[in-house]
Amino acid sequence: MIFEAFTWICLFLFFITIASFSIVSLSVFLLRLKPWCSCEICQSFVSSRWSLEFSNLCDWYSHLLQKSKTGTIRVHVLGNIITANPENVEYMLKTRFDNYPKGKKFSSILGDLLGRGIFNVDGHLWKFQRKMASLELNNLSVKSYAFEIVVSEIRSRLFPVFSSFAGKENGVLDLQDVFRRFSFDSICKFSFGLDPGCLKLSLPVSEFAVAFDLASKLSAERALTVSPLIWKIKRFFNLGSEKKLREAIKLVNVLAEELIKHKRNMDVSSHEDLLSRFMTNIDDDKFLRDIVISFVLAGRDTIASALTTFFLLLSNHPHVMLAIREESDQVMGSKTQDLASFKQLKEMHYLQAAVHESMRLFPPVQFDSKFCQEDDILPDGTFVAKGTRVTYHPYAMGRMETIWGPDCLEFKPERWLQDGIFKRVNPFEYPVFQAGFRVCLGKEMALVEMKIVALSLIRQFDIQMANPSHTLKFTPGLTATVKNGLPVFVQERNQ
Ligand code: HEM
Ligand SMILES: *[C@@H]1O[C@H](CO)[C@@H](O)[C@H](O)[C@H]1NC(C)=O
Repeated sequence: MIFEAFTWICLFLFFITIASFSIVSLSVFLLRLKPWCSCEICQSFVSSRWSLEFSNLCDWYSHLLQKSKTGTIRVHVLGNIITANPENVEYMLKTRFDNYPKGKKFSSILGDLLGRGIFNVDGHLWKFQRKMASLELNNLSVKSYAFEIVVSEIRSRLFPVFSSFAGKENGVLDLQDVFRRFSFDSICKFSFGLDPGCLKLSLPVSEFAVAFDLASKLSAERALTVSPLIWKIKRFFNLGSEKKLREAIKLVNVLAEELIKHKRNMDVSSHEDLLSRFMTNIDDDKFLRDIVISFVLAGRDTIASALTTFFLLLSNHPHVMLAIREESDQVMGSKTQDLASFKQLKEMHYLQAAVHESMRLFPPVQFDSKFCQEDDILPDGTFVAKGTRVTYHPYAMGRMETIWGPDCLEFKPERWLQDGIFKRVNPFEYPVFQAGFRVCLGKEMALVEMKIVALSLIRQFDIQMANPSHTLKFTPGLTATVKNGLPVFVQERNQ
């Protein structure tokens, strides 16, 4: 009896504690966010009034940032400072890098999927993986392994799929879907030495790809809830989207564990994929899983997004596409089935310029946030209180007259060329791959992959948008994804 009463009292106290803790943290949260803020930006945000004038949130933010004298704005209701000022960007990504980590809020959102992977951690855990991974990614034999994967995926899968749709009256192909399948196959082969086969002619559905998609989508949607408390409670009780997320992650884990176990039983010393290479240094299989999953997330949707918007821009600027063909004919002759070699790609400065110009207007990662650790003042004078989310905004930065001049909205690869030679820009003015200490590790690889894929298709096919006039809408998520995809007609070029 006494024992039972005691249990009940304990339970009661437990619930009281949980409840008061929740109330306190919710109030702290609300106090910090100022949900009642009546400034014009916050009112427009809360009421979604901005959407009457702009198709995408990023377009509205760009508009506000262009108008701002400092290139910086505050959205009080979100506790968020957003900047398109290159000096601020350099400050947060390099000068005071230590004061602007990804932070716990970010890492808890993606934590269940990414664990302790490089993408999701700060401090020494990050430093260790960064060192190890950059050593591998700079290794020549890893680079050529990556190139071979892409070349074989183009020849054996991309070309056949395009050809099978070519010339058909109602043969509409969704370019975005094809590029997502392509980059998923490529990054899985590169990271695990495993071929999910998403881009076979029948366009099969891969269990792993579906689970991975769902897991990253649902994780990203956590960021959209008003308070983290909401998804955490749902997770605790295993409800709704959190239940689905748990199941998707479980499937990803089962597949990853099987693969790692399988590899442990093989001699992987001659294998070039990242997993096999990391395996020789790391014994903790859970950690290994986390490390490679981050690579899949980082290297998949980004490339697909970049390629999709590149072809969208090309279709509106046929002279750029012709110039790319012309340059490649000069470097590699006019046999269209030939794929460019690594060395030939390097000689194509116009192609390099076009790809950079495309991501200036449509960066795959449209914005990226850090959390300020100690009170600080940005170079433009903006005060940043401890705990504030500070976001740099590559999408808006590509549209700033102050950076790119009065023709900033035009698609002009020439702006990247000086006497026909590609010239680099200040990475803090073009943080498409981030910049500073945490600059994208896959940057060179991504550029090579984008160029070889785009060039191969441009030389072999004519590609036309199926609905040329539709306004571009993005779906919210970690990477820019075009809503409803990018349907095209393809035609094999006459040789
Ligand atoms: C066009 C394609 C790509 C773009 C635009 C891009 C962009 C970015 C950006 C903006 C970040 C910083 C994210 C953050 O810290 O919040 C990043 C980080 C990273 N990217 Fe990429 N990326 C691309 C392709 C790739 C590929 C193909 C790989 C894989 C080989 C890759 C591997 C990574 C890794 C490992 C990080 C984390 C680096 C760190 O935290 O130190 N990326 N990328
Ligand atoms: C690159 O990788 C190859 C093959 O695994 C290895 O033999 C070589 O030593 C590595 N090179 C460097 C510079 O680490």
